[in-house]
Amino acid sequence: MSRRTFIAASTVTGAAVVAGPSLLGTGRAAAAEAPGSRVSLTVNGTRHTVTVDNRTSLLDLLREHLGLTGTKKGCDAGACGACTVLVDGRRVNGCLTLAVRLEGAEVTTIEGLAPAGNGPLHPLQQAFVDQDAFQCGYCTPGQIMSGIGCAREGHTGSPEEIREWMSGNICRCGCYVKIVRAIQQAGS
Ligand code: FES
Ligand code: FES
Repeated sequence: MSRRTFIAASTVTGAAVVAGPSLLGTGRAAAAEAPGSRVSLTVNGTRHTVTVDNRTSLLDLLREHLGLTGTKKGCDAGACGACTVLVDGRRVNGCLTLAVRLEGAEVTTIEGLAPAGNGPLHPLQQAFVDQDAFQCGYCTPGQIMSGIGCAREGHTGSPEEIREWMSGNICRCGCYVKIVRAIQQAGS
């Protein structure tokens, strides 16, 4: 096989892979062909039973099926923490968690922390406001959910400890100093 023939064959193969079912994709064509499963789970105190493509992430279930867009999609690959939610009280990356694995689970998202429209904010939400711990706000829901998990795990003893245990949550605006202060405030 000549180099030219090899490159041409590789290009065709690559296009077929991209067009086929993708772990990251949510295209209608792929979804229509994909096997689905029913899953029942509780999100912010409300029980939901949905049928989803077996490859659907918890993040996409929340955003695309349940309309809970407070949880953000950053990298969609487990590297930024923007999609952090609590599952049975533990923080997880929603983009790395398959929805079909969550039968019977209790999920808490940013929308579940305080009543919509009125009522007090969760102490960590209030601390983010008090400490001005955000700029664009895109990472903030994930930071807050992760901060709650961090506190529950008992990792808020010092700024250094908070930084270490919050290291999976990236802030492109660089608000780290204030985020740490907010978590300290809520924990004090
Ligand atoms: Fe899940 Fe970045 S969107 S870790
Ligand atoms: Fe903008 Fe964190 S506040 S990414």
